[in-house]
Amino acid sequence: MGTAIGPDLTRLAAVLGPREMALLMLARVKQHVRLVTVSGHAFSGILKRKQGQEIEVWDLSRTPPELRTLSEVESIKPDPGWEHPPREAGYTLEELADVIGYLRWTASGSQNKVKPKDVDVRAVSRSR
Ligand code: HEM
Repeated sequence: MGTAIGPDLTRLAAVLGPREMALLMLARVKQHVRLVTVSGHAFSGILKRKQGQEIEVWDLSRTPPELRTLSEVESIKPDPGWEHPPREAGYTLEELADVIGYLRWTASGSQNKVKPKDVDVRAVSRSR
């Protein structure tokens, strides 16, 4: 309900190949994450909405992300430091292939096995 914290993966997995999915999961560059500072404390967040002086923001430092309503925000800036969790999860190529295979199955019902070599993009994504 409301604003999702990330993209609809079933839509993405329906149109992207396994390699493209892996690249997006492991890429460092993200577009929507902001560094939100409130009462001298900064956290990574996804803005949901702004209403008058109040903002609603998904706090990505909580697991799972937590919706917070804040009234006295000091600053909202781009957050180049945020790491997308799958980057740090230490998936093996087999596990990455299984996650992507599962998403493709939810998107299209495809039961074709995704192979580890189809998602081997780590050397590329490390430098992005
Ligand atoms: C295996 C689990 C996950 C998969 C397969 C996955 C996949 C993806 C993909 C494909 C994107 C699109 C990236 C792009 O378009 O550049 C994305 C973006 C995003 N994901 Fe995930 N993700 C996973 C876990 C998580 C978790 C655990 C969180 C939060 C705690 C998260 C938060 C986000 C956010 C906030 C974005 C948007 C980033 C931005 O554009 O600024 N993801 N994810």
